Amino acid sequence: MKFFIDTADLSEIRELAETGLLDGVTTNPSLVAKSGRDFIALVKEICEIVPGPVSAEVAATDFDTMLEEGKFLAGLAQNIAVKVPLTPAGLKVCRILSTNGTMVNVTLCFSAAQAILAAKAGATFISPFIGRLDDVGTDGLQLIADIVQIYNQYPGFSTEVLVASVRNPTHVVEAAKMGAHVATLPPAVLRQLYNHPLTDKGLAQFVADWQKTGQSILGRG
Ligand code: G3P
Repeated sequence: MKFFIDTADLSEIRELAETGLLDGVTTNPSLVAKSGRDFIALVKEICEIVPGPVSAEVAATDFDTMLEEGKFLAGLAQNIAVKVPLTPAGLKVCRILSTNGTMVNVTLCFSAAQAILAAKAGATFISPFIGRLDDVGTDGLQLIADIVQIYNQYPGFSTEVLVASVRNPTHVVEAAKMGAHVATLPPAVLRQLYNHPLTDKGLAQFVADWQKTGQSILGRG
């Protein structure tokens, strides 16, 4: 499973890129607004830090402007994935950009039917928002299971399932068990993945026992 980080916070991106675990970055207009940064300058900087796909979302909702914005964003760096909403106009733009060799991330997916359309439109990634489905009393992970099952029926579909709106480590583990290709994680959730109380307890014991030996591994000449 690939890990993308879902943030527009450059210091978080720099820090987490150093873990060697990051395969890409996703941003959206809300995250850009929260960063307070100029969008284009921000996206260029992120693309320099992380070599994998960096999702940059169009702002327009009409076809013509969305296509123009998508082409502009695609020209910013080799690793841009243009993010378009799952609307008729968005999927038309998806088809054109993907045919021209641009990576496209279709966002705001809330149903398996929508995911089928995105795959048919040539999307590189489909982003089902599982946390937001959970928020309204629908099982977000079930949507991931459905999409993975459907895509697996059709070898001609090359769209990767990018699990978005992830809220906790259980979302990540369950989506991985289903074979989802990518999860985009808020920084806090990525950090939570490391945690287990028995790891902390076990390490404390090993450190204490090692000190009792009076030995050191390094500095032996
Ligand atoms: O970036 C898209 C998605 O991950 C947003 O998540 O937490 O705003 O529902 P959230």
